[in-house]
Amino acid sequence: MEKPKVLVTRCDVPEPALKKLRDLCEVDIFEGAYPIPRDQLKARVAGKDGLFCFLTDPITPEILDAAGSSLRSISTMSVGYDHLDIEEMTKRGIKVGHTPFVSTDAVAELTVALLLATSRRLLQANAEITNGGWAQCVWGPVYMLGKGLTGSTVGIFGLGRIGQAVLKRLSGFSVAKFLYADFVEQKLDSSFPPAEFVSFERLLQESDFVICMASLTDQTRAKFNKEVFTAMKNSAVFINASRGGLVDQDALVWALQTGQIWAAGLDVMNPEPLPADHVLNTLPNCTLLPHIGSSVESARFAMAELAADNLIGGLFKDKQMVHSVN
Ligand code: DGY
Repeated sequence: MEKPKVLVTRCDVPEPALKKLRDLCEVDIFEGAYPIPRDQLKARVAGKDGLFCFLTDPITPEILDAAGSSLRSISTMSVGYDHLDIEEMTKRGIKVGHTPFVSTDAVAELTVALLLATSRRLLQANAEITNGGWAQCVWGPVYMLGKGLTGSTVGIFGLGRIGQAVLKRLSGFSVAKFLYADFVEQKLDSSFPPAEFVSFERLLQESDFVICMASLTDQTRAKFNKEVFTAMKNSAVFINASRGGLVDQDALVWALQTGQIWAAGLDVMNPEPLPADHVLNTLPNCTLLPHIGSSVESARFAMAELAADNLIGGLFKDKQMVHSVN
């Protein structure tokens, strides 16, 4: 029997995942360790049965047209799938897989690290060592003052798997109150610190730290706009480790420049990569990371293997995707 043909859109996929694919499929791997250019994606996906892709590859109807009717399985090596036109794929009978669970801990750890880096100004403080700031000040009573978690109110927008993992990790920091806002109330067992389900408005008004962990959908797109930042405390620290699209970035720049909020820490932006000369890069109260939430060896290897299993699951009649979104 002829092996199904699949396209992998980057060359730097962990080898165990590629081996799984090679064992069962004829594998075409894009040579670059960067997003495949659209014209090459269109040319190389033509006639393929499966597509192994990433959050950097928007898969639109145009790409599906270029692939043709053979394409029946798409697997993204990411939890988020806002870059995929799921409705169109479902209409065309294409199965779509993603990689939840295996990166939850990694993203939660990074979110806590980003929160601490932002609230304690770690990147700014590190720069002081080489820019002469420390040499001049030596030690000062109000030098590099930050915001502490002890006794604070932490509000999480989106208490899904990753939001819950962040909640659990922050329970060791003597936080006074946890709030969360979501579309549904979550049932939390006793392994979690108590967290109150509140309206989005109340979360904004009362939280010292606002952590955005919701996924990007039509309901959440640009949710954090000027009105929302205006409703936050002037002392608030805003953290986003989900998707840049949840934030109206101009409104965030305004909020940071005017002191409407105290600081922001972002692992995700819009666009990605953020141009190096973007104004966010010039703001001392903004801590930026290049979308590294799940970048832990074990997590990325597990994501790659799960994505390979999903792709295979969608290609063979006697198999099933492990985590399908449609
Ligand atoms: C995901 O899996 O969606 C993450 O954003 C990748 O780090």
